[in-house]
Amino acid sequence: MSNIAVLGAMWGDEGKGHITHRLSRDYDWVIRFNGGANAGHTIYRDGVKFVHNLLPSVDFRHANTKAYLGSGMVIDLEKLRDEVVEADRTYPGVGKRIYVDKDAFIVEHKHKDEDKATNAHIGSTNRGIGPAYKEKINRSGKRIGDLLTNLNHPKDSPYADVLKELRSKGLMFTTVLEIEDAFRASNLLFEGAQGVLLDINHGIYPYVSCSDATVGGIIASGFAFAKLDRVYGVAKCCTTKVGEGPFPTELHGEAADDLRKLGNEFGATTGRPRRVGWLDLAALTYACKKGGITHLILTKFDILNGMPKVPVAVMYKKTPFSPADFFNAVPLTTEVAGWEDAKDYSQLKDFISLVEKFTKRPVGFISCGTDEKDITNWAA
Ligand code: IMO
Ligand code: MG
Repeated sequence: MSNIAVLGAMWGDEGKGHITHRLSRDYDWVIRFNGGANAGHTIYRDGVKFVHNLLPSVDFRHANTKAYLGSGMVIDLEKLRDEVVEADRTYPGVGKRIYVDKDAFIVEHKHKDEDKATNAHIGSTNRGIGPAYKEKINRSGKRIGDLLTNLNHPKDSPYADVLKELRSKGLMFTTVLEIEDAFRASNLLFEGAQGVLLDINHGIYPYVSCSDATVGGIIASGFAFAKLDRVYGVAKCCTTKVGEGPFPTELHGEAADDLRKLGNEFGATTGRPRRVGWLDLAALTYACKKGGITHLILTKFDILNGMPKVPVAVMYKKTPFSPADFFNAVPLTTEVAGWEDAKDYSQLKDFISLVEKFTKRPVGFISCGTDEKDITNWAA
């Protein structure tokens, strides 16, 4: 069997959904293992745009691929219901291919209220993520399994109706161990949310999300048995960030406006304009090491079509070894030959060689557009 992971290598929004969706047809399961509805994974299927916040980025046209929402997630059940209803409209009966880990914790209304009231200084997505994980760590959180036990006592299970609705759509509530044999006999694709630089341990604290966005999150979700053949880290050919915190290669003013427009860099979850800057190989190398990334996937080459030279930060004055080293980092930038048309792959060689040289990771795939046909196996 062959298992892979697709992780965000930077500050999220790198195109993980797009890549996962394209690769998913060759896998039996696509498994989300961290985060919640703070993720916004954009997928184009037959030219139609879908944004998944909780559902793994499965290509539901391929009947054999199933979705699993793992125990490391925090799940807003009403949001999940809305996404399932939406998916079911296009793919009737799809709920039977969606499994939810009973050990996952839930996001409650009070968590979203608390997020709004207390986490504006981080730039939180207000999806209740921090407060839900806070209760989990404080040992006062609620697991989906607890709610299912109380399903017939609505007073004790305020989410009984939505759980029943999810069941009526065919969703299965289970645990990894209950279906371990099936997982062991399958090809697994683990889809990360957020990115290594937003990871609670290795991201640029305190400007981080609250879950394990590295390979560690896969093991923490009960999948220690799943040996990974490759861990792909996804990065754009420029960099974006939503929310506050250090961003060493950030552009400002008109230069930022121009790049933001080229990449249509507005949040899939919140609609916020993203902060933008050039590719940062010091941050990417740090993320590869901390994230367990063995191979890279670079996306959005098309947005820089026609730029004669593309700036890239190759290192910082002082190599970052810890999140603290990103505060006041001084990037050292070079310029590499640009491309007229990203679909003429020969023009991308200089840029990709530079990335491989500094990160010491081979590039596996590249993407130069939103369609699945725009994803190319670079290594082939
Ligand atoms: P995907 O999976 C980009 C950012 C928020 C904020 C910080 C904390 O689409 O790549 P949170 O709501 O998690 O407490 O917010 O993390 N953030 C993301 N930025 N993409 C994401 O997910 C993100 N999920 C959280 O903007 O700065
Ligand atoms: Mg996103």
